Amino acid sequence: MDDTLIHYLRAMEEMLKQIETFQEEIRQFAATDADALEQFRIRFLGVKGIIKSMMGEMKQVPVDQKKSFGQVMNAFKLLAEEKFESEKNRLSFGSSSERSAIDITLPGNPLPTGSRHPVTLMRNRIVEIFQRLSFTVAEGPEIEDDWHNFTALNLDMHHPARDMQDTFYLSTDPAILLRTHTSNVQIREMERNQPPIRIICPGRVYRNETISARSHCFFHQVEGLYIDKNVSFADLKQTLYFFVKEMFGDDVKVRFRPSYFPFTEPSAEMDISCMLCKGDGCAVCKRTGWLEILGCGMVHPNVLKNCGIDPEIYTGFAFGMGIERPALLKYGITDIRLFSENDVRFLEQFTGA
Ligand code: PHE
Repeated sequence: MDDTLIHYLRAMEEMLKQIETFQEEIRQFAATDADALEQFRIRFLGVKGIIKSMMGEMKQVPVDQKKSFGQVMNAFKLLAEEKFESEKNRLSFGSSSERSAIDITLPGNPLPTGSRHPVTLMRNRIVEIFQRLSFTVAEGPEIEDDWHNFTALNLDMHHPARDMQDTFYLSTDPAILLRTHTSNVQIREMERNQPPIRIICPGRVYRNETISARSHCFFHQVEGLYIDKNVSFADLKQTLYFFVKEMFGDDVKVRFRPSYFPFTEPSAEMDISCMLCKGDGCAVCKRTGWLEILGCGMVHPNVLKNCGIDPEIYTGFAFGMGIERPALLKYGITDIRLFSENDVRFLEQFTGA
């Protein structure tokens, strides 16, 4: 073997060792960012990179070794190219396993967030104020019998509220009806429990009325009942004063007008000064300066008797108010039908405040 050949074989051996080192370096490589990846590309795959310059050595390789050296160089090049591609993908899409499962660059499917109905918000406010006075929530059926909705409440057979025009009856059984007020819950509670009874009854009620901007065939009420020894009209007034102050603020004035309900005696209607015109008179209060918000009175002795409570020992008061009316006022809504149309554009405008 002549010197040149020996010299050449040594150089080849050296080069193969170097290639192995480079290959190990490539296998270990993980690009921290796009810059590092570009440095990698320039170093191995660039025009003046390691692979190109080693390929240049090819012409000096003896013919019988060209093939095997070519194979080594191809494997080296392929390794560098594959590493470059996989690192490029990893940098732009996350790890390769994530990329095949989900494309995290796609925009997500937004979940629409719901909001509470304005009638629910108003009901919760009313209930929460009475809960602070130790009233507890009681509920009852919307489909009711004549006794709990009318008879036990001292409404005789000829009371106009029983009329077909006011009440929805079941055509198959006229003794069953859709409750016209939540007073049925008061009767059911009094039948079940002896005093003291202190309850608040929110719920939906039905009346056979023509639907318009101001009235609907169903709406919501909150009624209250307090029965104990020595409960007087003064307690009723004080309870309602507290409610009005908490609900509408200190500036609002209150007045009671004598009224009539078959289930209370004496009975009254409570008005508050119109918060929109501050009592001066406007379209909302029909120029009177007052808004009618609830009916109330001392529970009639006949009602107590009907429920098995002795009126000689116990007395109590009851009151009832609509929820839609104060909600209309609070939110400045002019048409009651909007509450039941399920139009999301309307419903999503209300917050708990
Ligand atoms: N139940 C009456 C109504 O629906 C309201 C009311 C309740 C009045 C309690 C007095 C006492 O109109």
